[in-house]
Amino acid sequence: MGQPTNLYFTFLFLLLSPCWGHQRSNPDGERSSCDHCDLRLSCNCSYGGFTHIPVVTDRALSLDLSFNNITVVTADDLKGHRGLRALSLHGNRLAVIHPSAFDPLWSLEELDLSDNQLTALSHKWFRKLGALQELNLLNNPYSCLGSPPLLQSLVWLRRLKFGGPALEELKRGDLFGVTQLEELTVHANNLMRYESGALADIWPLGRVTLSLHGPFLTNAAMASAVLNDVTYPETHIVLEDLQLFGNQSVQPLKAAARRRVRCITLRNLSVNDEAIVDFLVVLDGVPLTSLLMDNVTLIGTGRWEKASMTNHDSFDEFHLQNIVVLNVFKFVSFLQLGFLLKYPRKVSVINGKVFVMPCDTSSLLKNLQYLDLSDNLLTDLTLEETLCHGRGTLKDLRVLNVSGNALKSLSMVSRLVVKLSKLTHLDISRNGYSSMPQGCSWPSTLRFLNISRAQLTTITFCLPATLEVLDLSNNDLNQFILLLPALRELHLSGNKFLRLPIGWLFPNLQTLTIQSNTLNMFGRSDLQSYKRLRSLQAGQNKFVCSCDFVNFFQSDIKGGGVHLTDREESYICDSPLHLQGEAVGRVRLSVVECHPVLFVSVSCGVALLVAILVCVLLWRLHAFWYLKMTWAWLRAKRSCRRRRRHRDRAGSEELLCFDAFVSYSERDASWVENFLVPELEEPRDSDEDSVNPRNPRPLTLCLHKRDFLPGHWIVDNIMSAMERSRRTVFVLSENFVQSDWCRYELDFSHFWLFDGNACGDAAILILLEPLSKDDIPKRFCKLRKLMGSTTYLEWPQEEERTGEFWRSLRNALRGEEEAD
Ligand SMILES: *[C@@H]1O[C@H](CO)[C@@H](O)[C@H](O)[C@H]1NC(C)=O
Ligand SMILES: *[C@@H]1O[C@H](CO)[C@@H](O)[C@H](O)[C@H]1NC(C)=O
Ligand SMILES: *[C@@H]1O[C@H](CO)[C@@H](O)[C@H](O)[C@H]1NC(C)=O
Ligand SMILES: *[C@@H]1O[C@H](CO)[C@@H](O)[C@H](O)[C@H]1NC(C)=O
Ligand SMILES: *[C@@H]1O[C@H](CO)[C@@H](O)[C@H](O)[C@H]1NC(C)=O
Repeated sequence: MGQPTNLYFTFLFLLLSPCWGHQRSNPDGERSSCDHCDLRLSCNCSYGGFTHIPVVTDRALSLDLSFNNITVVTADDLKGHRGLRALSLHGNRLAVIHPSAFDPLWSLEELDLSDNQLTALSHKWFRKLGALQELNLLNNPYSCLGSPPLLQSLVWLRRLKFGGPALEELKRGDLFGVTQLEELTVHANNLMRYESGALADIWPLGRVTLSLHGPFLTNAAMASAVLNDVTYPETHIVLEDLQLFGNQSVQPLKAAARRRVRCITLRNLSVNDEAIVDFLVVLDGVPLTSLLMDNVTLIGTGRWEKASMTNHDSFDEFHLQNIVVLNVFKFVSFLQLGFLLKYPRKVSVINGKVFVMPCDTSSLLKNLQYLDLSDNLLTDLTLEETLCHGRGTLKDLRVLNVSGNALKSLSMVSRLVVKLSKLTHLDISRNGYSSMPQGCSWPSTLRFLNISRAQLTTITFCLPATLEVLDLSNNDLNQFILLLPALRELHLSGNKFLRLPIGWLFPNLQTLTIQSNTLNMFGRSDLQSYKRLRSLQAGQNKFVCSCDFVNFFQSDIKGGGVHLTDREESYICDSPLHLQGEAVGRVRLSVVECHPVLFVSVSCGVALLVAILVCVLLWRLHAFWYLKMTWAWLRAKRSCRRRRRHRDRAGSEELLCFDAFVSYSERDASWVENFLVPELEEPRDSDEDSVNPRNPRPLTLCLHKRDFLPGHWIVDNIMSAMERSRRTVFVLSENFVQSDWCRYELDFSHFWLFDGNACGDAAILILLEPLSKDDIPKRFCKLRKLMGSTTYLEWPQEEERTGEFWRSLRNALRGEEEAD
């Protein structure tokens, strides 16, 4: 029976083991996770080294997985991401995507699969992506889009990018279902086969970008066909990576010309003189309004006069950026293009190593309203030539941008533009202006002036009062005292301001940027001086987080009024030290720091209250009495010592002058005066004498009422009375316990009895009323002790026993005398 069972298990094990092995190697078991998500649930997991899609919170709205090493997207990788709006897998090594991998992404609007290893595209990926608006499939090694039609379910698609070096074929129906796009980008530098009409069904089409390097060089007919399918008058055509050398290479543009193209951009273009002429010829009479060229390599010498018969009267904007002129020294000039220059209103030649535009050329720009010569090599001298020595040649010019050149003199530039009677915008930023003359003359129309990124240290009346927008950021300014009544926008970031400029200088200011200065703080009064300020950017300063500033920031600023347009996190405390690096908006200051007066008064009040409470408590616990006692004791001890010394010198005999000092409460005075004193001080007859024939004399008592020296301190009086008496008689009663002085006396006697033997004497206790040890309050521990150790005499309630009492008392008083 054992054998078959074993076999059975072995079999089962073999059956299951590959399965387990698979489970273990399944990335799901060990899926790494990424939690780089910000508050807006946008998760940035790029450059994370992931080889599989990591686990990310289901609530993520956007997920960036670009530049990882992800090779595969499995069916389960994106489960639960129903809310995801944007997913980027750009720059991975993605080769396999499970057909239903993207099915959970119902809300996806943007999907980027560019720069991967997808050799074939599958329509199944996109089946459920009904919300997709933007799809990027660029630069994957697929050679065709495949069938059935890839994108037919993407009814909301508005921006589509596809193609790459491997794309060889585009057929009719490839883009079936895509009918309307804002932007279409096709990288088809190596396209071999194009079926006419493949891109023709898309309309309206806002902007189309085509990389058609190969077709333009080798298959002009195919390039024509492509252009023919996507060109509409309202479509902005962008052509990339072209090499236009000679008549043939330009011919495909005829298709665009036929379809009345209005706006062409040529990007990453190499072109020679001949091609430029042919280009102008091809576009002869076409209502082209804008020609933009970016990254142009010009091979030639500018001999374009052959095109001078062409008509380009709708030519409005000419934009050249990043130009390399290979034969720069042989280059003649733009003069040959005179026939062209009279039309455009807008000309930009940016980053083209232009060091001068001759006045003759400028004179040809008759319609020019906008001239941008930024990032070139203009100097004060060549600008003078360009602007025809300030004669106001460009009479319609409204905007002049000479940012990023080598200009140095502000008075020069102001003189050159003063006659441009329509000039409103002047951008002279990123030049070498280091000082401002005391006065300059500007056109009265000037509204916008940008002198940022210079080295200005002071402001003068050179700045015109007509300005509405002034940019002085990234200079070395530290104060601004100049009335600019029309100013709406002032930019002062990157300077050295310690405080905000005074607001009443700018009654119309609405926007102020003053980031990255050395501002310590600003307050309500600072902002109130600005009557119209709406938006302020003042982050990245060295804020001193005082209570005033923090309160102001957290209540006033966040509560409305002036709007902070930069991020609140850029307002960081620089001091005090313990707050350094914390965001001003989140700092919590303690009451001690913020309301010292209040704090001190409250804490004093509390202290007073506590003191009062403690006093009451002490009073309740009789602490004062104890204190008084201790002090009196100390004094008593000292004076006892003094007296003892005195007595040692004088001899002790005559000092003992009383038989007993009677300590009693004032309330028991009647008993003492009516019973005790007459009984003991008056001479007795009969039995007394017979019992004690040797001592017939009456006893002498010391009573504080009678025998205390007036004018002495009462404690001293008590002490000397005790000293001068042989015994101390305590008349105990409720009243005695209540009386302070009696307690003193008791205590002193106790001190005599136990501490000061030399001064010592015996105490006799008389209980006037029945008083048990327990009736005496606990704090009179000495009295309690005394009652325990000394025998006491009780004043009898019955009349007949008084005789016996007096006898005992007399005996007690005389007892020691006999012993002596
Ligand atoms: C991807 O993997 C390759 C080798 O497998 C490695 O060289 C590369 O650094 C990895 N890239 C990233 C972003 O981790
Ligand atoms: C520019 O175009 C050339 C072909 O004319 C191409 O080889 C090169 O890669 C392109 N450069 C860029 C930056 O696209
Ligand atoms: C360019 O070639 C076309 C035909 O291919 C021809 O009609 C035209 O005259 C040529 N233009 C120039 C300037 O050579
Ligand atoms: C001038 O050119 C610079 C650099 O190209 C640009 O940043 C700036 O916005 C331009 N100024 C105007 C007024 O267009
Ligand atoms: C002023 O010029 C700088 C540098 O060219 C630019 O960055 C800035 O945006 C310009 N300022 C305004 C207000 O346009």
